[in-house]
Amino acid sequence: MQDKRNGGKPLPLDMCGIVGYIGDGNVYDVLIKGLHRLEYRGYDSAGIALVNPSGKLNVYKARGKVSNLEAFCEDKDLSAKAGIAHTRWATHGEPSDCNAHPHYSEDGNLALVHNGTIENYKVLKDALTQHGCTFHSETDTEVLVQLIEYIKVKNNCSLLDAVREALKQVVGAYAIAVVEKDNPDRIIAARKSSPLVIGIGDNETFLASDATPFVEYTNDCVYLKDEEVAIIERGKPLKLVTLENKEAKIDVTTLEMSISQLEKGGYPHFMLKEIFEQPATLHDCIRGRVVNGGKKVMVSGVSDNKDKFLNAKRILIVACGTSWHAALLGKYLIQDMCRIPVEVEYASEFRYSNPVLDDRDIVIAISQSGETADTLAAIKIAKKMGAFVYGISNVVGSSIPRETDSGTYIHVGPEIGVASTKAFTGQVMVLTMLALSIAQLKGTMTKDEIAEIGKAILKIPKAVEKVLKLNEKIERLSAIYTYARNFLYLGRGYSYPVALEGALKLKEISYIHAEGYPAAEMKHGPIALIDEEMPSVIIAPNDHLYEKIVNNVQQVKARGGSIIAIVTEGDPVIHNIADHVLEVPEMPECLTPIITSIPLQLLSYYIAINKGKNVDMPRNLAKSVTVE
Ligand code: AGP
Ligand code: GLU
Repeated sequence: MQDKRNGGKPLPLDMCGIVGYIGDGNVYDVLIKGLHRLEYRGYDSAGIALVNPSGKLNVYKARGKVSNLEAFCEDKDLSAKAGIAHTRWATHGEPSDCNAHPHYSEDGNLALVHNGTIENYKVLKDALTQHGCTFHSETDTEVLVQLIEYIKVKNNCSLLDAVREALKQVVGAYAIAVVEKDNPDRIIAARKSSPLVIGIGDNETFLASDATPFVEYTNDCVYLKDEEVAIIERGKPLKLVTLENKEAKIDVTTLEMSISQLEKGGYPHFMLKEIFEQPATLHDCIRGRVVNGGKKVMVSGVSDNKDKFLNAKRILIVACGTSWHAALLGKYLIQDMCRIPVEVEYASEFRYSNPVLDDRDIVIAISQSGETADTLAAIKIAKKMGAFVYGISNVVGSSIPRETDSGTYIHVGPEIGVASTKAFTGQVMVLTMLALSIAQLKGTMTKDEIAEIGKAILKIPKAVEKVLKLNEKIERLSAIYTYARNFLYLGRGYSYPVALEGALKLKEISYIHAEGYPAAEMKHGPIALIDEEMPSVIIAPNDHLYEKIVNNVQQVKARGGSIIAIVTEGDPVIHNIADHVLEVPEMPECLTPIITSIPLQLLSYYIAINKGKNVDMPRNLAKSVTVE
């Protein structure tokens, strides 16, 4: 089910939240309540800018929860006629009071909040520094507010013109709101790729990343389109212009959605929203790391630690749960591409196994939350034993990235659903690019081999969009298997960790027992389980083990097992054996896991829904296991 507000395109990636307000209500209360409404989006810090009647611009901000910000504001001047507020999901600069938004312009006249990433911020920052600008934060966002002020002063133009000119120079994604000290009656806002919506009330106007902060005040809203600029002025009708200052059409939407539906972007659950976000999240994960049309792949932390990677005698990957499945794929990828021996361990086992490590070992720690206790403990042991530790996380500034010697982020935005989906494909994508970066360094792959995979990586977001079109078919298929009591997931090679991940997805949200197994191992015992009551999901893409997996499919069929097969489009054989076939696009073998894991996410989601389970918060589970 696609959110129609986005023209049926996959939803833009949620990178935290913006709220703005002009009206006769209590500005501070509306803004803070709005930030609380956006808390579901995950964030690491929050802030607020209040323009008060005497022409003062007060900015208050704090790391951590919105409640921290409220505590900070307790004894402050909260008088205001207009204001903007922000919850941050850090991409550039650790979560801290200083890096929190709003960011000031140097003369203190402007305050700006931003969701998204400014890819060319370094170039802009260097140019502004040449012109004498000084910066106080590590963020890309601060560059934008300084650029707007610089243009405004240099061209002696209006705030609107300065914003339009500055945004023409920006490469990346943004949703912004700007207020000016000596004009408490106006907010300027704009967006490109990151969402922004304007709530039209009676003599009051709201601005937010989605409608949850204002839907209790008004249902009438206007969704900003890419590269539109909104001029929100007290007592005047909303005005929209393009970056070229051409008047833009105002389409008012009347919302019927509940707040809870809005939080999920129109999807019934965060998990389904996050499954459908994957074209956008993989685009963001790949962006800036696969360049020159795929010929060059670079993941941070490799070239500046080249000796470590060139001299490593072994790589050990530690993780838990879904991240451990990604780690297993990391083994196949790195061994294949870099010819370095790789071992994979559950962090909880590694830490008590009296491991043998030294300074020629590299340990890779994978953790979406960056807070998993077992993984953190494993990192500390590895460091104590002299290994070089490289982290792969999703949450900027979390404990694990702070503990590792180097590393990189997967940049898939906050993952709210307890069952990991977009973070898994993001981790696998980063591991693939990491393996290619190391192979490039070691020369274990030719330029053509790297370019071939790099080119295919650039096509992944579109391929994932195509796989998501299986949604309705999988929803129907799920009804057949909803009351199965056990499931087997089988795969070989790159598809074996996918089988493990598919089984975990089903287990953790539908509570049906499911087991992932190497398909060839079936004949060593588990095939005794096969009968009409035991459905098997077999991941069988067109790879170098295809003929072998066909045999496994036949072995299961011969024993009366029903089979759901994930195959490559146009599969010539398995169509005639399996009971149900889900086709995915042709892909280089090393990239198939990202494509074949998505139907398994959808299958587990719909089976769990059919069983009336709470897919976003399954029983007994937490999003981040910070205890041992
Ligand atoms: C996966 O769907 C589960 N939520 C769980 O296995 C999770 O992957 C595991 O707890 C590891 O979490 P982390 O990636 O945040 O370290
Ligand atoms: N890139 C900006 C930062 O890191 C904004 C991140 C966000 O969307 O919250 O501060």
